[in-house]
Amino acid sequence: MKPIQVGLLGIGTVGSGTFNVLQRNQEEIQRRAGRGIEITMVADLDVARAQSIVGPDVKVVNDARAVIANPDIDIVIELIGGYGIARALVLEAIAAGKHVVTANKALLAVHGTEIFAAASAKGVMVAFEAAVAGGIPIIKALREGLTANRIQWIAGIINGTTNFILSEMRDKGLDFDVVLKEAQRLGYAEADPTFDIEGVDAAHKATLMSAIAFGIPVQFDKAYVEGITKLGAADIRYAEQLGYRIKLLGITKRTDKGVELRVHPSLVPAKRLIANVEGAMNAVVVNGDAVGTTLYYGKGAGSEPTASAVIADLVDITRLHTADPLNRVPHLAFQPDAMSDAVVLPMSEVVTSYYLRLRVADQAGVLAQVTGLLAGAGVSIDAVLQREADEVGGEGATSTDLIILTHDTREGTMNDVIAQMQGLPSVLAPITRIRKEELN
Ligand code: HSE
Repeated sequence: MKPIQVGLLGIGTVGSGTFNVLQRNQEEIQRRAGRGIEITMVADLDVARAQSIVGPDVKVVNDARAVIANPDIDIVIELIGGYGIARALVLEAIAAGKHVVTANKALLAVHGTEIFAAASAKGVMVAFEAAVAGGIPIIKALREGLTANRIQWIAGIINGTTNFILSEMRDKGLDFDVVLKEAQRLGYAEADPTFDIEGVDAAHKATLMSAIAFGIPVQFDKAYVEGITKLGAADIRYAEQLGYRIKLLGITKRTDKGVELRVHPSLVPAKRLIANVEGAMNAVVVNGDAVGTTLYYGKGAGSEPTASAVIADLVDITRLHTADPLNRVPHLAFQPDAMSDAVVLPMSEVVTSYYLRLRVADQAGVLAQVTGLLAGAGVSIDAVLQREADEVGGEGATSTDLIILTHDTREGTMNDVIAQMQGLPSVLAPITRIRKEELN
């Protein structure tokens, strides 16, 4: 049978990895897919560089629309990124009857509803394994491997840049700003790292997992997003003393009231496997009612790890493209007419436990005032840690850090108590609040 023909939009790190792995493993991939898979056309603004990667036998153009317009192309891989031109091109490819493979989590988290509806109407597939956790086949696991389960919650380290920074902060006792500069110098963080360090990239990925896990539309605008920029080395040290590590987690959870969807730094018990995921690696924990807790670990970015996910999608499409569209795996795991209308909860309704760090005057009655406010709001304390003032501020210091771990509390209640604590004259600096996830 004639090989399936693929057009590639954008040949950067992931695109060149995809081309190389497809070439290197072509015989084995063909044995799995049932027919050959060939990238026959590439669009990239830098035509000369692209041609040098793919060699003379592949047609290279600088106009992505020429790829979409080519009637011989069966599948379009979009590796341009962003919400702008990528959205237009994906919709045009769908309209032209092409299947689409994309690694673009931002595009699908924000415009997924429109894109999946267009694809369903046209009877084509939009596959996006590479959009979440790079080489880890987490979309496949959630959508197919765990299909028997009522998924209860997912918690993932789904941004390698921030996990690298947090690992370095812990290892070397350094503050965020120092480690970020070092990460940029070493090429681990982008020149503009905003999406990574502010939690946006992780929230895009959590949004996609949430939709697949619970059969709800993609709703990035409802996600709570908090990055790691305000974390200090002291918080990481105190967390360690209490038996926890701080990780940027993407969390989505089913509750009686609706679905939680949130990204923020979290204290995780140091004994959990996910707490020990270091450097730029990714890991996702999924809890299902039948299977229990499962863990998926691997490289969340990089040329060939991400290519591994792109090619898995190419193979899936190659196997399924002649199938009746109604018999294919639905884009979001659930049939489009069987989606849930469960609401994504506002952050104030989320229930979790907390780490609070208060810089307080080291004088009589302060601890009683602070704990009195917590007791008044019905917040139960799990643990308290106070260091000697000298240890925190040096010889003769008159202030110290008071660390409090709470039991589960509604976020809205905690917001009120923190505001009250902040008003105490003995509380000398903005209070640090980090959520805590036991993940058991
Ligand atoms: N920038 C992402 C990360 C990889 O640091 O994990 C692509 O999603």
